[in-house]
Amino acid sequence: MCGIVGYIGEQQAYPILIKGLHRLEYRGYDSAGISLINDKGDLSVYKAKGKVSMLEESVKEKDVTGTIGIAHTRWATHGEPNAVNAHPHYSQSKNLALVHNGIIENYKSLRAEMEKNGMTFCSDTDTEVLVQLVEYMQNSHKCDLYTAVQLALKNVIGAYAIAILEKSKPDQLVCARKGSPLIIGVGKSDNGRAEFYLGSDATPIVEYTNQVIYLKDEEIAIMDRRGRLDITNLSNVKQTPQLVTIQMNLDQLEKGGFPHFMLKEIWEQPNALRTCIRGRLNVTDKDVLLSGIIDHKEKFLKCRRIIICACGTSWHSALIGKYFIEEAAQIPVEVEYASEFRYRNPVIYPDDIVIAVSQSGETADTLAAIQLAKSKGAFLYGICNVIGSSIARATDSGTYLHVGPEIGVASTKAFTGQVITLALLGLAIAKEKKTLSDEMFHMLVDEFQMIPDKMQWTLEHNKGIDKFAQMFTYCKNFIYLGRGYNYPVALEGALKLKEISYIHAEGYPAAEMKHGPIALIDEEMPVVVIAPKRGMYEKVVSNIQEIKSRKGKIISVVTQHDTVVKGMSDYTFVIPDTRDCFVPLLAVIPLQLLSYYVAIAKGRNVDQPRNLAKSVTVE
Ligand code: AGP
Ligand code: GLU
Repeated sequence: MCGIVGYIGEQQAYPILIKGLHRLEYRGYDSAGISLINDKGDLSVYKAKGKVSMLEESVKEKDVTGTIGIAHTRWATHGEPNAVNAHPHYSQSKNLALVHNGIIENYKSLRAEMEKNGMTFCSDTDTEVLVQLVEYMQNSHKCDLYTAVQLALKNVIGAYAIAILEKSKPDQLVCARKGSPLIIGVGKSDNGRAEFYLGSDATPIVEYTNQVIYLKDEEIAIMDRRGRLDITNLSNVKQTPQLVTIQMNLDQLEKGGFPHFMLKEIWEQPNALRTCIRGRLNVTDKDVLLSGIIDHKEKFLKCRRIIICACGTSWHSALIGKYFIEEAAQIPVEVEYASEFRYRNPVIYPDDIVIAVSQSGETADTLAAIQLAKSKGAFLYGICNVIGSSIARATDSGTYLHVGPEIGVASTKAFTGQVITLALLGLAIAKEKKTLSDEMFHMLVDEFQMIPDKMQWTLEHNKGIDKFAQMFTYCKNFIYLGRGYNYPVALEGALKLKEISYIHAEGYPAAEMKHGPIALIDEEMPVVVIAPKRGMYEKVVSNIQEIKSRKGKIISVVTQHDTVVKGMSDYTFVIPDTRDCFVPLLAVIPLQLLSYYVAIAKGRNVDQPRNLAKSVTVE
């Protein structure tokens, strides 16, 4: 979602903040702004609607000096995306400037209260209410900024990550969080003096330091140039900061010669998955080792049911995980949309395991879903990509994907990483429960090991998609079909197309077509069918026949050397043969490429599609 960057130290803040905003662009936003205490001691605020480059353009003639500053990319929740509503927001006296990620739910009543006391507001945002409230507390309690922030936040309902500058205190930076992520980078300038960085995630920080502190919920931090870093919670209890070394490197945040992050991430999948399975899949001893399971073996042996909560693409991978875990480990699995689950009164038994699947580890709905499950006594397991993320920290155990940072808004390598991780999980539980014969277990381990190479093969053998995709730019609708393990792949293929090309697409279980959607088929309708020569091949062939009879255009994903489906299709993508449960890992690749090239042909902004945010940290 939106992004926060901050800096206090010896260097000029502006270039660091702007670079940081560019690094956070992938999260999705609609306006940007920056605030500095300049060399003359003024507290400036500059904002612009649109991209960070527009903000840069708008400050060309302005004084952007100063060694302390905060900056923001806004993804509007309250008030339309325009320059007035963009952050930072000033307080009434303009002595404070604040950036905020999240939602202040009780902003209306707080605003009304302050208006009664004669305060005026210039924007429609919930955020302006917060900065005004901090100043109001400062004035009414005659206290310092840190205390005023504590007091203000005690009155706030909602989620926030905030950073605040105070004009009269150019030597300190204050920040706080609850629900929305915030990371403090601890660095040293060339002359050895302390400097601090702030980021909504590590991407704006890694360039300067790998030493970070993940601020926890309801913590407030104050930093100054003498190296002071004090953290307390809302009840004013001092907290001990835990310094963590992050592993991310700069190359992972660059496009590495690819025109877009999405294409880079699609091509990265074979290597990303090799990293994901390294140390976890032992082909020599035919073993699967997941410390997250080994450490809690009893829980998994006793578990009667698994519930997986996720959103979007992660929900699709969870569905594949369900099929695999049920088949291999014989445990019933339910897959829930986190946003629905959190507002129901779901039945959760003490011997349930609730798994959260989330690339970012920050999705507000998924986080809330597991908090609900925890309150009902479930054991929580996290499958996240972002190390140290809120979901990873809120769960009792878990497994990281280790596929590297995913920058493209449309998830690709995280999807395959999640599928692989859920399959590892299924195998690890199956091993403990002895639900698979040795022969089957060994066969799966061997096949698993070959998946990255087969992905590479798939990438190399589907290079013509860019030309072929041009034909579909004028389509208004697409249908994606698959059965069994490939039904979630159909959903994922359709989501990818919708997200980045803005073409309407639907994913269906192939056999469901005849129960309604078949009415949509005519000569204008492209139907993408995942039809590997496996399990339900013959059935899928019949489903294709039904569509062909109604003149639908067939684009199929088939196993290498297939002739039957190929002969029935207008266009074919090939994948190598593999076991049913691993087909999604290969079949999704041509679908990712198809959506990418259709979007390119339509001139879309592939890495930052309209209205979308990379991690949805608000409801
Ligand atoms: C995927 O392409 C999407 N942009 C989106 O559906 C995403 O998967 C969803 O928001 C969940 O995010 P998470 O995995 O970070 O929790
Ligand atoms: N709720 C705030 C706003 O609409 C912050 C949104 C965000 O997280 O970017 O301005």
